[in-house]
Amino acid sequence: MIRRALTIAGSDSGGGAGIQADLKTFAALGVHGMSVITSITAQNTYEVRAVHDVPLDVIEAQFKAVVEDIGVDAAKTGMLSNSEIIRLIASLIKKYDITLVVDPVMIAKSGAPLLRDDAVEVLAKELIPLATVVTPNKPEAERLSGISISGLDDSKLVAKKLSEELGARAVVVKGGHLAADESIDILYYEGRYYEFRAPRIQSRNTHGTGCSFSAAITAELAKGRSIPDAVRTAKEFITVAIEYGLSVGRGHGPVNPSAWVLIPAEKYAVLSNLKDALKLIELNGRLIARLIPESQMNIAMALPGQYLRSIRDVASVPGRIVRVGEEVRVISQPEFGVDNEVSELLSKLVKVVPEIRALANIMYCEGLEEIVNELGYGYVYLDYRAGLDELRQAVKAGQTLDIIFDKGSWGREAMTYVLGRDAVEVANKLINIAVRYKRNK
Ligand SMILES: Nc1ncnc2c1ncn2[C@@H]1O[C@H](COP(=O)(O)OP(=O)(O)OP(=O)(O)O)[C@@H](O)[C@H]1O
Ligand SMILES: [Mg+2]
Repeated sequence: MIRRALTIAGSDSGGGAGIQADLKTFAALGVHGMSVITSITAQNTYEVRAVHDVPLDVIEAQFKAVVEDIGVDAAKTGMLSNSEIIRLIASLIKKYDITLVVDPVMIAKSGAPLLRDDAVEVLAKELIPLATVVTPNKPEAERLSGISISGLDDSKLVAKKLSEELGARAVVVKGGHLAADESIDILYYEGRYYEFRAPRIQSRNTHGTGCSFSAAITAELAKGRSIPDAVRTAKEFITVAIEYGLSVGRGHGPVNPSAWVLIPAEKYAVLSNLKDALKLIELNGRLIARLIPESQMNIAMALPGQYLRSIRDVASVPGRIVRVGEEVRVISQPEFGVDNEVSELLSKLVKVVPEIRALANIMYCEGLEEIVNELGYGYVYLDYRAGLDELRQAVKAGQTLDIIFDKGSWGREAMTYVLGRDAVEVANKLINIAVRYKRNK
């Protein structure tokens, strides 16, 4: 049966944090997400314009509606803006005995206060003691402990103190606000410290990091994972969500919880498209064999531009595609991260022309230009090692791009690159070219 996770938090109209971030995170981690909205915020990437606290009876009704029918394997709290709301939630959590993650949200990323001063005390005394995990950031941990944090040793001290004095089973002091090359989170649990490290990502798009992180812990606890395992997964999850954060709005853009599932899904789609293309190429091997260059052939396909960082995000055939007599043989299955020329060229091309996501190389000869013209394909002559300026200009002038001819130079084989939106399209173009090439011979 699917596990059920509940978020008790504020709505962020900008879709970056709060309920919206939590539900995206739950979905990405494969649990059924539910929500109790405590406040409605009018918010975007740079400011909170209005806050309306939901009446207590409506908060309680939301909670009971889901708990009494659907059930909850784990819950988290985010923004609880006043002490009445905190007291109500504490009493409900106690009554229904629910595994709880408390994200002690006090201030929005934009700097706006989300928790009234007098409520901090109530949060510490009434809700945190019920928590399985509590996840303060640096300022929150300092506020709750009264100790200022300037490094890992301080984080450890505070994590232990908060667990022992406030009674949470486990405490994660998050490292997002600590100046260092790494963003290190400290978990204190059952007398032990755990460190979770990730490289610090330079990004403006960090709206919702804390919400997604605590939601990810909640989802993993709902699945029955141990606390250290849940935090470990949450740390990996948030690192990906920050790395692929979304550049929308003029302030802090939202993190991207969907990246966790979309990138693997896109990778699968790329590999299966390449396999289909390779089948087409082998089936038409007798035609295509004549076009294989001396340095052999390859075909590559890249992840969509928003996920493309390096050659690691481009798949191609490690052993290349070779001519064996009159046939074409694919030496091995396509893989990501093979360091070769087609992958390198493609990773550069996608940045200039995002629609082009696949490419194959064949030999160059003078007759090919005529064939390509007959087929109505757009082309440029280019040595890509010398830069992509001509390509940029052609794209700017509205030219469609199907082919790049590289005439080569001394010691470097001339080459034709066939481009397309995916590998199957490239394979079909190759076949079209090969058919005409044979006819013209
Ligand atoms: N620039 C970054 N690079 C890598 N990891 C980061 C970065 N910023 C935050 N994190 C990680 O994101 C998670 C959330 O931490 P953070 O300290 O940002 O929470 P927060 O301040 O509560 O966030 P929010 O402002 O969204 O409430 C932690 O695991 C932290 O280590
Ligand atoms: Mg936070």
